[in-house]
This record gives sequence, structure tokens and C-alpha cells, in this order.
Amino acid sequence: MAYEIEYHDYDVVVVGAGGSGLRAAVGAVENGYKTACISKVFPTRSHTVAAQGGISAALGNMGEDDWRWHMYDTVKGADWLGDQDAIEYLCKNAPKAVLELENYGVPFSRTEDGKIYQRAFGGMTKNYGEGTAQRTCAAADRTGHAIIHTLYGQSLKHDCDFYIEYFVLDLLMVDGECRGVVAWCLEDGKLHVFNSKKTILATGGYGRVYFSATSAHTCTGDGNAMVLRAGLPLQDMEFVQFHPTGIYGVGCLITEGARGEGGYLVNSEGERFMERYAPSAKDLASRDVVSRSITKEIIAGRGVGKEKDHVLLHLDHLDAKVLEERLPGISESAKIFADVDVTKQPIPIIPTVHYNMGGIPTNFHGEVMTLINGEETPVVGLMAVGEAACVSVHGANRLGSNSLIDLVVFGKAAADRINDTLKKGEINKEIPQNTVDEVVARFDTTRNANGANPTAELRNKMQKIMQNHCAVFRDEAIMSEGKKLIEETWLQASDISVKDKSLIWNTDLLETLEFQNLISQAVVTMTSAYNRKESRGAHARDDFEDRDDKNWMVHTLAWANNSQCTLDYRPVHTYTLSNEVKYIEPKARVY
Ligand code: FUM
Repeated sequence: MAYEIEYHDYDVVVVGAGGSGLRAAVGAVENGYKTACISKVFPTRSHTVAAQGGISAALGNMGEDDWRWHMYDTVKGADWLGDQDAIEYLCKNAPKAVLELENYGVPFSRTEDGKIYQRAFGGMTKNYGEGTAQRTCAAADRTGHAIIHTLYGQSLKHDCDFYIEYFVLDLLMVDGECRGVVAWCLEDGKLHVFNSKKTILATGGYGRVYFSATSAHTCTGDGNAMVLRAGLPLQDMEFVQFHPTGIYGVGCLITEGARGEGGYLVNSEGERFMERYAPSAKDLASRDVVSRSITKEIIAGRGVGKEKDHVLLHLDHLDAKVLEERLPGISESAKIFADVDVTKQPIPIIPTVHYNMGGIPTNFHGEVMTLINGEETPVVGLMAVGEAACVSVHGANRLGSNSLIDLVVFGKAAADRINDTLKKGEINKEIPQNTVDEVVARFDTTRNANGANPTAELRNKMQKIMQNHCAVFRDEAIMSEGKKLIEETWLQASDISVKDKSLIWNTDLLETLEFQNLISQAVVTMTSAYNRKESRGAHARDDFEDRDDKNWMVHTLAWANNSQCTLDYRPVHTYTLSNEVKYIEPKARVY
């Protein structure tokens, strides 16, 4: 069938309008590049809006701080899988990035003397692990909301062209080089070809590969899947973060800021069990540690409730004024979703999928990298930022509040890199018609699919397999079964059914395209996890309990082609960018 196609020419095309996409777009436009930002949702509905507790930066507003201490914590939190050149870049640039947000107009909470308020968060310490640092800058518990609205306002101030409620179908790759994307306008059903010199993927994580997640239903990792279809690898996909405190039964996030303000966890015996697992950091140990500790309590029969399958978070001892001023959002969520008045009752919570440390491999400039003959090699024309990217600053486990700072630091870094490398006024390279035709053909085949398997059934199956076979604790038996099941589901996806054949706001087709994106990521996640024979960060194996730096201090790279997932590995960057800080040697884990 012939489709109506509109053609556009841009210097820069940003796919995604969350915090990183908007920061990159603002930077590109400010630097004078003709820029488009394409988003499947209205920008202020991007998932950044849901970030609660805050954004990390060693401002030192609430006690002494230093970006080197932040770097040390991030390397340690990442369980030595983070690239230390990139972590140095992140932590050193963080204070400037937060002050820039303040100048843009983010309404941060304030200290008595008018400085940006900072709270304690898990794993953030002073003086290389000696005490708690208050490093997480907060706008009450709606920090992401404040940031995304401010950045959207900034982008409107500049001349950025927005294509809102457009779903990007695929990258246009010519001889290994990215020359743009094809998108489907959900409102009028037309297809659009965007020819660009630089394409920046800012498409977020893929939390919806799991059954229970704090991520929005839109978090389907569309950019990650496009990269796989382009024959490029994803990196470290086995590292999936469970946030310790999702509301039991619904999965909504209760910010770590709640524990930062003094909240604590108890089991069915009323015991503050984190004192046993992490005697020093207690409830503010890093997320992987707290999630595993909760799971162990439940397995040991010390969970609460009829099924003894969750634990409790107490905030009822805190001053009502603190709850009102610092934690109004989660107080409301607890009431709506768990019918709990936080001033009087504890919140029932359970570890819930929250963040993907893995994603599209990039360097700290945001340039997408692949592995050619064992060498890290940039992919011409293609960049990635935010949760979609794996820079890798979070390694095997991200510290809370290091995500928002990653968005703005690397969003800006990508714009700066374009400014340093892209000449203005050059004509875009041509895109051969057959490259466009291939993308349209996949879209058309999916739209006209009349197979035996409804999308909703396959999605449900995939989510249950991932939840049961690739969760907080993993082992050979559970994952080899999971691998078999997820590969079967991937094969069944070729016999999918789309009932609605229309082009305008066809959510059946949209969800099918999103499912196709999710299933390939599920397969590479499971395969990467199955192959990593150690425990590191969020990847905890019962059959390989120790971290194995000799054999496994390496990044996994995973390709997925024609129902086949293949893996390779590359070394962690054990060098820093400057002499201001030295490489941080791996140490045993003590909490
Ligand atoms: O707990 C939270 O507020 C989440 C923060 C984060 O994931 O960085």
C-alpha cells in the first residue's frame, strides 16, 4: 500500500522529549542548529515528570561536599562497572548543571538561608565513605516534575520545532551511518522522513518489559530497539534496578527521599532489619542492597500481610510539617493507592523495577559506540542520552538521584559535541529510497498482521517471564528456563495479530510496535544475565555469589538479529579524564 510521506531536513533530530532530550535540544538550538524534537507523548508527560526525590550534585549547601566524593560513591555504587572517565565528567559537571537549572527557573526547595535544599540519599557519603552526605537537590518530592516543565519552557523560548505525538519507527542507516528517522504521526496517520546530520536518541528506559514497574506504560525503550534493528549492540542489559520502595500491589514509586528524611523499614516482627544487612548505611544503603535485603526478609517468612510478601515503610514518626513540605507527593500517592495516612500508618512496600543501567553504548560526549574488531568505534551521525544511553556512569547499579543529573549533564554534553564537530550550513546527505522503503515495509507488515497471537497476550506473557525469571535474585536453573520461554515468545511475535488497520490514533498498532520493541530487549536482557557468571550490583546470582573482578569486570555487548542474540565484551574504562582524580581501585563491598 502507498503511504503519504512528508520530508523534512534538519541539522539535529532529537527523539524523545524527557529531561535529556529537551536539554540536548535546547543546547543544539542555542548553538544555532536547525533542530527538531520528536516525541510520542506531550513533552511534559515524558517519564522524567515522575522523578521524585532529587538530583545529585556536590553543591555543599548542607555540609561540606566535594565532587570527588560524589565520584567515589558513584564508582562504588556502580560496583566497579562504571567507566571512570565518564563518572568524572558527570560528577565534576554536576554542580554547574544544577545551577543552570536554577537559573532556568526550577523551583527548588530552599534552606533557611535561601540555598537549594539537599537531602540524604542512599550511597551518597562524605569523605570517601565516612558519613552521610546531603547531596540530593530537591523540589519537594516532585523534582522531575519541576525540571521537565522548566526545560520545556526553555525549549519553547528557543526556536525548536516540536513534532508531538509522533512515533518514531526506525533509524535510517546508510553504510553504517545514521541519516535520520522515519516517524508516524498518530494524529493524522501520515509518515514523515526526517533527514538529519545528527540523530540523538533520548527515548528513556524499557521498564515495561517487566510486569511491575515504577516506569510509565510509555517506557518501552523504543530507541534501544531501533539500535538493535540497525545491527548495533546494546550494553549491560542484565543490570535492571529494583527500587526498594514501590507501593505493594500497584508499583507506584515512594521516593528514597522518604528514607532520606528519616523513614525506616520494618519486617513482620517490627524489626529494623536494615541494621543487620548494612550496619553502617542502614536504610540508606544503595538500592541493590536494600532490595535484596527486603527480598531475603520475605523469603525468610518475615514479610507482612496475609501472604507475608511485603514489608513496611514508617514515616509516621516524622514531624507532620516535614511530611507536608518535603514529601507531599508521596503522602498523596500513599493515600490514593494504599489508603494509608502516612502521619499515622506505615506504607506497604515491595521492590519494584525502576531503572535500566544498560542501554545504547556511548562515550561521555553522547556519541553511540559499537565494537569493531574489539575496538570501541563511533557510529557516524548517531548519539544517545539519558536512560536510553549506557555511558556508562551507573555501571551495575545506579545511585538514587544520579539519573536526573545524568540527563542534564549528558544532554548538554551531546549539544556541546555537536557544536564542536558539526559545521554549519552543510547540505544533508541523501537517503536512498530503498532505505526508507524498508522501514515503511516493516510498518505495513505489522499493521496488516493477521496472526494467531494478540499483542496483549504476548506482552503479558513476556512481562510475567521477566518478572519471574530475571528478578532480584537469579540462578542458572531459573534463567535457563526464562531464556527458553522468552525466546519462544519472541518467535510467537512473528505471528502477531493487529485488529485495527486504520492509521489515525491506532493504539492497537502502536502497542504492537511497542511490544516488538520490548521483546527484543527482553531477549538481550535475559541472555546477558544468563551469561554473566558472577554477582555485581543489581545482578545477584545465588549460584555465583561473589563479584569476580578477574573475569567479569567487563561490559556486556548484545546484538539481536533474526531471532538470535549474540554477545561480546569490552573492558571497563579504568582511566580518568584528568589528574584531579585517580582511578578508584575495586574494593570488597562493606555497607
Ligand atoms: O527514589 C527516588 O526518588 C528516585 C530517584 C531516582 O531514581 O533517582
